[in-house]
Amino acid sequence: MGCMDREHELLDLAVSIAREAATRARAMRAAGVDPVATKSTLTDVVTAADRAVERQVRDAIHAARPGDVVLGEEFGGGEGDGAAVRWILDPIDGTVNYLYDLPQYAVSLAAEVDGEVVAGVVINAATGREWTAVRGGGAYADGRRLSGSGQTDLRQALVGTGFGYAADRRLHQAAVLAGLIGDIRDVRRFGAAAIDLCLAAEGSLDAYYEKGLNAWDHAAGGLVAAEAGLLVTGLRGATAGPDMVVAAPPALHQGLHDRLVELGADKGP
Ligand code: IPD
Ligand code: CA
Ligand code: CA
Ligand code: CA
Repeated sequence: MGCMDREHELLDLAVSIAREAATRARAMRAAGVDPVATKSTLTDVVTAADRAVERQVRDAIHAARPGDVVLGEEFGGGEGDGAAVRWILDPIDGTVNYLYDLPQYAVSLAAEVDGEVVAGVVINAATGREWTAVRGGGAYADGRRLSGSGQTDLRQALVGTGFGYAADRRLHQAAVLAGLIGDIRDVRRFGAAAIDLCLAAEGSLDAYYEKGLNAWDHAAGGLVAAEAGLLVTGLRGATAGPDMVVAAPPALHQGLHDRLVELGADKGP
């Protein structure tokens, strides 16, 4: 089997599992949602649905591909050297939106082989919109190939971002944003990093950046953005990771990157 065949097969499996997960999340939302606990801080909430959806996806992956490992936000995991594929799962990205019934929360599922994300799907569970990508095969939403925004002027760029849960981190992020806001058209904070990356991929945002993301937040959406032609990196030559994820079309990337470096966006808590 060729590499591309395998990657498309992984994507097909990811899409069918993520669709069932999105259906579950939506149904649980309709039945009413209570926070079951807070995690790192009072703002960092988890619901029964986060856990139920993660369990369902784990079970489905293990039934289909018993040798693979899964890294998920709620139950961790993902270790195991011999595994062919490591799946990276955010069962509900945008839990605060989910709690408030704001229609911007997603299932995010990516397949990683040899440390590289090769297939990814993000489904907005409230609306059913789907974004998919396979490494080297482009990014798609609802059958349409994505190519990012054509904006070339950072001063006219609509930029998405987000804030972590820890108080000291969000203060740092707010200070960075205060430094940036005068240099861009405007900012959007929708509350689901995986969807933000897909919005940048389709040009509904001109660019996106955020510090403090975990692999499950950006694995699938980052591939969608990269396959749409965006540069998806960290700062100062680093790859996208916990210190920074910046996703922007080539014409905007350097300018946004340099401004974020000036503001020390990747430094601090
Ligand atoms: C969060 C969302 C949010 C981002 C945070 C994430 P969760 O994920 O993606 O938009 O700003 O950094 O932690 O907890 O809702 O899965
Ligand atoms: Ca998340
Ligand atoms: Ca989550
Ligand atoms: Ca969470």
